This record gives sequence, structure tokens and C-alpha cells, in this order.
Amino acid sequence: MNRKNDHLLLARQSTALHNSFDDMIINHHASIPKYNLDEINITTCICGFELATPFFINAITGGSEYAKQINQKLANIAEKCQIAMATGSFSPALKNSEYVDDFLYIHNKSILSMTNIGADKSFFAMQQAISYTNADILQIHLNTLQELLMYEGDHNFNEWSNNITSAITELNIPIIVKEVGFGMSKNTIHSLIDLGVKTIDISGKGGTNFAYIENSRSNNPIEYLNNWGISTVNSLLNSIPYQSQCDFIASGGVRNALDIVKCFILGAKAVGISQTFLNWVVEYEEHVVVEKIEQLKLEIKKIMCLLNCKCLSELRNIDYYLINDTLHYHQQITEK
Ligand SMILES: Cc1cc2nc3c(=O)[nH]c(=O)nc-3n(C[C@H](O)[C@H](O)[C@H](O)COP(=O)(O)O)c2cc1C
Repeated sequence: MNRKNDHLLLARQSTALHNSFDDMIINHHASIPKYNLDEINITTCICGFELATPFFINAITGGSEYAKQINQKLANIAEKCQIAMATGSFSPALKNSEYVDDFLYIHNKSILSMTNIGADKSFFAMQQAISYTNADILQIHLNTLQELLMYEGDHNFNEWSNNITSAITELNIPIIVKEVGFGMSKNTIHSLIDLGVKTIDISGKGGTNFAYIENSRSNNPIEYLNNWGISTVNSLLNSIPYQSQCDFIASGGVRNALDIVKCFILGAKAVGISQTFLNWVVEYEEHVVVEKIEQLKLEIKKIMCLLNCKCLSELRNIDYYLINDTLHYHQQITEK
């Protein structure tokens, strides 16, 4: 079977054992509300682009007939809802030009679009992805554990840092460096900032689980690694000391408007969603997904109203407490 079809199928089964957003409890503030619902503003900014909606469709797919159908449906929805969208890794199209079309549909829509490629790919490959797609932003993904578990994975890692540095210094569009659902430590964040990265998607554990996905495809699975990674909330907590030097995007296990609001409380500038949107496009017709996304926008505003916050940046002042694993991690992990 095609690898991209495997991923689409298995991603929908890869439910995380635990979602860290459930370990973060927000204090209630609006017994005396300050704002009317229609005064609440949910615009944000990433990589110099203004986003009318603070969440976007994060990298999912491309590279098979089924992937193409999913991308077309997602792109139509993104345009109707005016939300930004990233496609999955462009590398299948670099290997086989018959897949180029799977990726182009989105880039011809009037929305902010991102193309995606692995940090293992050369500067030349990154340039090609941009020139084929004309994307506004390049996402470069870090997926070490996935490569190590994948039977067809690439196990050469020592060019990754150079590839990222070349992209940042030589390419003329903004770069986002992202994880794929294993989260980021302070050390990783520090190293990326040293390489010159200005926007990081911490993509934490809690949603799509690529250890589970690749172990399910492998004849030699290492299943005890299925719970590897740093949760989304803990990755965002790790990002806080660096938020004056770099913009952070949150992704990994985002299910609803409350999870999105929690990301902004922890300092995220935007939120990426893959698994939840993949489930919706597979299960529902396009117009239903459009309604669900409009409802998501409204619910973010309602929660902000409840917290007396007129704009997303005011969410940074909201107090919260942590419980369970998230609290233990926060208390015990000390890194430079
Ligand atoms: C089917 C599927 C394929 C994915 N492929 C890519 C990819 O090609 N490149 C990438 O950077 N991330 C990829 N991701 C990872 C997501 O962009 C995101 O970082 C991760 O799934 C965590 O978010 P979620 O829990 O909302 O799914 C993929 C996710 C899914 C569900």
C-alpha cells in the first residue's frame, strides 16, 4: 500500500493515551463581563502575515490519489472559512512528478498557503518545493523518531542543521521549523534559535502519534516507544523563556476551542490542527466541516468573553493551574 494512504488511515486510529490540555485548568474571570461578544477580536499574525482566524490546517498529506482528494476538500474548506493551510511534505512530488498536482490546488486558492519538507532535504529540494508551489511560507519538519521507526526511513541526520541554516539565510520566504507530534524541549528550542529560526511550531504529543503509525507499518516495531515525546502543553511551557526571541505556533492534539484558547494563554501566536480536521473531512461533507469551523471561531470568542479578554494577546494574562503529569514535568524537568 502507498505510504501516504497508510499514514492517513493510521493517523485516525492513533489516539493518544493522554492529552495535556486536560491537565491545564483555567481560572474563571467574567462574573462581571467587560465586553460584548461582537467586540472580541481573534486576529493574529505569523511570519509577517495577518491571520483573520488564529488556527490553520497543519501539514497532513499529498502523494496519492486519496491524498489528492483530501487536499482538495481541505483547500475548498480553507478558502470558504478563510483559514491558512499547509500541505503535507512535498517530497513525494520531487520523487515523482505525477504527484505535483496533489499539492498545487491549495496554492491556487486565495488563502495563506504553506508548503512542507523534511530537514533532511537539501537546499535545492527546498527551493524546488517553493518554486513549484509558489507557497507563502515553507515549513521544515523535524521527525527523527519517525525516520528511525520507518522501515524506509532516512537515518542520516548530520546535515539537518546545515539545511535549516541554508534555508533561513538563502530562501526569500518565511520559514517555520516544526515537529510532527513529539514536542520540543528547551534545549531543542535554544538550538533552533541559535540556527536563526524565527518561527517554531512545537507540535507536541497528545494527538497524531507517528511512533504508533510507523510501528503499525513495521515488521520490527519498537512499541515501547509509542509513548515517547513531550506533550503540547509542556512544550509550550518550555517555549515561554524564548517567546521574546521567536514566535511559537502550537499544535498536537488540539480538539476544540478551549484547547486553542489554552495555547494562546501559554503564549502561542497561532494554532495548527491536523488530526481533528482530518477526521472531520473524512467523516463529513464539505459544507458540514465549514459549519464546524465557523462554530470553532465563535466558541473561541465566547471563551475569550468569559475570560474578559478582548484580543488574543490579553489571554497571556490569564491564570491557570496544572495537574497530573503536566505538573510533574513542570516541577522536575530543569534544562538549560
Ligand atoms: C496523516 C498525517 C500526515 C502528516 N504528514 C506530515 C508531513 O508530511 N509533514 C509534517 O510536517 N507534518 C505532518 N504531519 C504532522 C502534523 O502536521 C502535526 O504536526 C501533528 O500531526 C500533530 O498535530 P495533530 O495532533 O493535530 O495531528 C502529519 C499528520 C497527519 C495526521
